[in-house]
Amino acid sequence: MSITIVRSINDLRSHVRKWKKSDESISIVPTMGALHAGHLSLVREAKSLTDRVIVTLFVNPSQFDSPEDLDKYPRNEDDDIDKLNSYNIDLLYAPQTDEIYPIGHSTKIVVSGVSRGLCGDFRPGHFDSVATVVGKLLIQSLADKAFFGEKDFQQLHVIKRMVADLDLPVEIVHCKTIREHDQLALSSRNSQLSSNDRKIAPIFAQTLFDAARQIEEGVDVATVIHNSKEKLIMSGFSKIDYIELRAESDLRALSKFDESGRIMAAVYLGNVRLIDNVEIRKC
Ligand code: PAF
Repeated sequence: MSITIVRSINDLRSHVRKWKKSDESISIVPTMGALHAGHLSLVREAKSLTDRVIVTLFVNPSQFDSPEDLDKYPRNEDDDIDKLNSYNIDLLYAPQTDEIYPIGHSTKIVVSGVSRGLCGDFRPGHFDSVATVVGKLLIQSLADKAFFGEKDFQQLHVIKRMVADLDLPVEIVHCKTIREHDQLALSSRNSQLSSNDRKIAPIFAQTLFDAARQIEEGVDVATVIHNSKEKLIMSGFSKIDYIELRAESDLRALSKFDESGRIMAAVYLGNVRLIDNVEIRKC
């Protein structure tokens, strides 16, 4: 069966109205396309939890750092449709930019607190753009549940905060990061790595897993982070934006391992920016 694609809010809403009338629950899986196994795991989870599943495909221009970054982002709608074909989703919502941001659009959602620090310091305005587009998609779809991956852990916190603060009637569901066999976290940006950098890339996740283990074993947090940065630079990573231990519950900076947290990091390999995080559980 081929996927039903809609490109306007009106068409999206007419499907949603029909489903709501028959009391069916609805999930939304927001994506920017370039789908990989991480996205598909969200779709699978959504299918298992609600009657109807909408996948959105919208490359949100304002959340990119520069026009070059936006240009480089991989786009192939036919490929994405092929990947979704076997999942039997109910709708693909793939609007054009002017459907989301018509002329005169002037409203922005700014989430303070969790948007600050980490990627927020290196990508000014990024989380405002993410919150704005996700807020719009949630309102447009009237979904009961929305699905996000834990790889973008700060994004997940920003979205949860926005949903709580704006009393949006949707449950945010998060799913584990999916990794390649060599532990590299799946990301649409991995396809931009040169073949040599692709060989180096797994050292990023491996370093974070090692760091987590050492901190759990009692090694001082600052020492572990310092050594991890050195290891990455020695291995060929071109720049480290940050490596930090943050609280699982609200992203507070932790200088000691006294509660469950995540080692969160952003680095560059060549000119490709990679992010990842690894959980550290306090029993
Ligand atoms: O994580 C992403 O792919 C994007 O930031 C999202 C949530 C689809 C918003 O554009």
